[in-house]
Amino acid sequence: MKKVLVTGGCGYIGAHTIVDLIENNFEPVCVDNNSRSTTALLQGIKDITGKTIKNYKVDLCNFDDTYAVFQENSNIEGIIHFAAFKAVGESVEKPLLYFENNLSSLINILKCAKEFHVPHFIFSSSCTVYGSPDKIPVTEQTPEKPAESPYGATKQMGEEIVKETTSATDMQSILLRYFNPVGAYPSALIGELPVGKPENLVPAITQTAIGKIKQLIVHGDDYPTRDGSCIRDYVHVCDIAHAHILALQYLIDKKNNSPCEIFNLGTGNGVSVLEVIHSFEKVSNVKLNYTIGPRRPGDIMAIYANNSLAKEKLNWAPKYSLDEMMLTAWKWELKLKDDEALHGNPNFQMN
Ligand code: WQD
Repeated sequence: MKKVLVTGGCGYIGAHTIVDLIENNFEPVCVDNNSRSTTALLQGIKDITGKTIKNYKVDLCNFDDTYAVFQENSNIEGIIHFAAFKAVGESVEKPLLYFENNLSSLINILKCAKEFHVPHFIFSSSCTVYGSPDKIPVTEQTPEKPAESPYGATKQMGEEIVKETTSATDMQSILLRYFNPVGAYPSALIGELPVGKPENLVPAITQTAIGKIKQLIVHGDDYPTRDGSCIRDYVHVCDIAHAHILALQYLIDKKNNSPCEIFNLGTGNGVSVLEVIHSFEKVSNVKLNYTIGPRRPGDIMAIYANNSLAKEKLNWAPKYSLDEMMLTAWKWELKLKDDEALHGNPNFQMN
C-alpha cells in the first residue's frame, strides 16, 4: 500500500480524509501534536475502518522531530498537509503565533519532503485567499485580494511557498482551496470537535440547538443579499475529504499539466446564513433560538465557487445536499451529547 503522511490528521478534515485514504487502500501515517485536537477521532477512525492509526505526536515547528518521522517512514508516496491554526479571530489577536506556527511547520515539512524525495504534496488552502472578490463565483484565476486576516495571509503565503518549492524541486503539488467545510461522517463516528466556543456557523448552530450555547447570534442581516445575511459555499466534509484522494491519485497517475495546480473545493451554490438555519430547523425539527446581531468585523458579504476545474480534472463531484450537511452535523452533536453522558467529556481522550 502507498504510504501517505497526513499532518493534522487528528483534526476535522484530516480524520475524514484518513478514513477515505484507508477505504482507497492507502496507508495513512498521522502526524499531529494535538495542540488543537485530541486523539478521540482516531478511535472513530478505528470504529469505521477497523484500522488503528498511529499518531506521531510531533510539533512540526521542531525540525528535528519532524525529520525523525521521515527517517522512520521510508517511501512516502505523498504528504497531505492540514496542520495549521485556523481561527480567523484568534489570528487577528495573535498574528505572530499564526505566522510562526503555520509557516514554520510548512517550511519544515517541505524541507523534509525535499530531503526524502517525496513526490507528491497536497496543501490545505482556503477560499479566504480570495479576500472579498469583485466577481462571484470565483475561479482559480480570480485575482487574490489582500488577506482579511493573518490566518488568510498564512494561506496566501503558504500557497506561494508550495508553488516556489515545487518549481525548484521534482515534487508535484496541488493546492486545494476549501470553501466552508461542514457536516460529519454519516454514521456520526467522527465529526468536528471545536476547541472552546465555536466561531464557525454550523457548530454554533448545533451547539445552540443542543443547549450548549444559549442563543445563536446571526452576524448581520443588512447586507445587500437576497435575505440580508452573508452568502457562503458550504460543502460536506466527506466531499472535501474525497477530493484529497482524487488529487493524490491524479498526481500519481501523472495527469497534471503543471507541477503545481490549484482547485476550488466548493459546491458552486451560494447559501445565506438564514437559509442554513432554516435547513437545519427543517431536518432537525428543532426551532433554533437565534437573534440578529451586528455584522462581524472581517466578514465578507458573499463568496462561492466556480468548481468546474475540480469536476473536470479531478472528476470530483460533491454529492451531499445542504439538508444532508445539516442532518449529519446534528447527528454528530447528538452523538457528542451521548458520549458526554457516557464518558463525562465529549472530547474524551482515547486511552
Ligand atoms: C460563515 C457565516 C458569519 C457564526 C472561515 C474562514 C475559512 C474557513 C471557515 C478555515 C458568516 C456567520 C457565523 C455565528 C454567524 N476556516 N456566522 N453566527 O467566516 O465564512 O470562513 O471559516 O478553514 O477560511 O475564513 O465561516 O462559519 O465563521 O461564518 O452569523 O455564530 O456565518 O458571519 O457570515 P467563514 P464561518
